[in-house]
Amino acid sequence: MTDAWTPVALARDLPRLGVVPLSVDGIDIALWRSASGRVAAWADRCPHRGMRLSHGFVRGEALSCIYHGWSYGSEGQCLRIPAHPDLTPPEAIRVPVFQAIESGGVVWVAPKTTDAMPPAVGGTALRSLTVDAVVDWAASGFALSGAVARGELSGVAMTILVQPLPNGRFALHALADSAAPAALIEASRGLEALRRQAEVALA
Ligand code: FES
Repeated sequence: MTDAWTPVALARDLPRLGVVPLSVDGIDIALWRSASGRVAAWADRCPHRGMRLSHGFVRGEALSCIYHGWSYGSEGQCLRIPAHPDLTPPEAIRVPVFQAIESGGVVWVAPKTTDAMPPAVGGTALRSLTVDAVVDWAASGFALSGAVARGELSGVAMTILVQPLPNGRFALHALADSAAPAALIEASRGLEALRRQAEVALA
C-alpha cells in the first residue's frame, strides 16, 4: 500500500470516451477513458496554446483538443495537426502523462512516478460524493489508513476512499461489502448522514 496513489473516481463513473477535469496535489489533470477502456491521466493543458484538454473529445485511443483539434495518442504524443494534415508532428510535441490505473473498481492517479500498486480494495461501487469538511473518521467508527477508511454505515461494512479536493473539500468514493439492493440504499443514506455530520460539525 502506498500514499502515492490518489483515488479519483469510481471506475463505473468514467465511461468510455469520457473526459473530466481533476486536481491532484495541485496539478490540473484531464482524466479520460479511451474507446477500448484504457484510463489515462494527462496534464490538463494542450501543448499548442494551453487550452484545457478536459474540454476536448476522445476518438478511439486518442484525445483531441477542442480548440484547433490537435490530437494526442496514448503516450501523450501529438498524432495529428488538422491545419497541416500532411505534417508528421515533431516528437517533442507531447502532453505530460501521469500514471493512472483502474483497480478494485476505482480509478487511481499517481502524480509522481511510483513502482507501488494502489491499495487493494473491492466491493460494490456505491457512490461518490463531496464533503465540505474533514470527516472525523475515528468518531464515526472508521479506521483510516492513507486514503482508505474501513468501517460500517447503517449496518453495512464498507470501504470509503478519500480524495482531497481544492479548498478544503474532499470526495468520498464508497464501496460496499454487500451487493444487496436494500443494504446499498441504507449504506447510501448512511453516507449522506456522515457528510451532514461532518459539515454541521464545521458550521
Ligand atoms: S490549443 Fe489545443 S489545438 Fe490549439
